[in-house]
Amino acid sequence: MHTYHDIASLRRRLQAERQSGLRIGLLPTMGNLHAGHLALLSDLAAACDLTVCSIFVNPTQFGVNEDFSRYPRTLSQDQEQLQAAGCSLLFAPDVSEMYPKGSEHNTVVSVPGLQDVLCGAHRPGHFQGVATVVSKLFHIVQPDVAIFGEKDYQQLAVLRRMSEDLNFPVRIIAGATRRDDDGLALSSRNQFLDAEERQRAPMLYKTLCQVRDAIQNGLRDYRMLESSARGLLDKSGFITDYLSIVDARTLQPADVNCQHLTLLVAARLGHTRLIDNLSLSLAETPASLP
Ligand code: PAJ
Repeated sequence: MHTYHDIASLRRRLQAERQSGLRIGLLPTMGNLHAGHLALLSDLAAACDLTVCSIFVNPTQFGVNEDFSRYPRTLSQDQEQLQAAGCSLLFAPDVSEMYPKGSEHNTVVSVPGLQDVLCGAHRPGHFQGVATVVSKLFHIVQPDVAIFGEKDYQQLAVLRRMSEDLNFPVRIIAGATRRDDDGLALSSRNQFLDAEERQRAPMLYKTLCQVRDAIQNGLRDYRMLESSARGLLDKSGFITDYLSIVDARTLQPADVNCQHLTLLVAARLGHTRLIDNLSLSLAETPASLP
């Protein structure tokens, strides 16, 4: 597996592969790879002929007080894992390759509505940074297919909308959330939890499952369910940014007429912010989005 650090040589290689008829798949990441990322790679490999993984810790999606500088950078371990998993090639640019004029003075891509709610309300500018860097990656790699994890449900929704609005000829596929045995969604941030926090962390997913069960048992007072679930998390030592029951497509608060629901949560344990989500359908046909 060759690693490309510059756009021009990656493009030359991909052009040759495309001309020989190969379908190109893209897995964008920020590195520090875990089993969740590698599972996406294998989902992607089933949908294309040549897999491109990108590793780029994107400064424009971190807020001023966020963890850009302490985000773990583990390129050589990541390369080994990708190689062992059969990835075709890796694109690992540095910041000056992606933002030669500086990340502050770059054209941006904005996805109004979807980018402003939930995590967007707590992390202003975050999804604009994500949409901007992913649209750059789409232009650089020109993939036939790209994969994103359901773990970051709002990100997936934002990127699907971006791709549709800007007519990217890319098929976006969603990879299921991979979890530890106790239910905690795999995340690069889990390593920041101390032993005691790590023990409490699965409560996040358990709480979502309890809310789902209550809805499946017929409860429809979503605002009441949200506040009692928040109460449970607060009692377990979380500081909850939001716990919301939303329409799976619009991400707006769900009402009793909604057929496809997504439960989303973001909460902090100590200094670590964790997110998770769970979708459920009250209709006979399952939701197809995002
Ligand atoms: P990163 O956090 O590295 O995640 C890369 C991809 O892996 C995302 O699509 C994310 O949803 C997926 N992922 C992470 N944990 C997962 C899990 N436990 N199960 C399944 N998929 C999982 O998300 C980003 O990077 C960035 O915002 C990026 C899209 C690369 C733009 O910079």
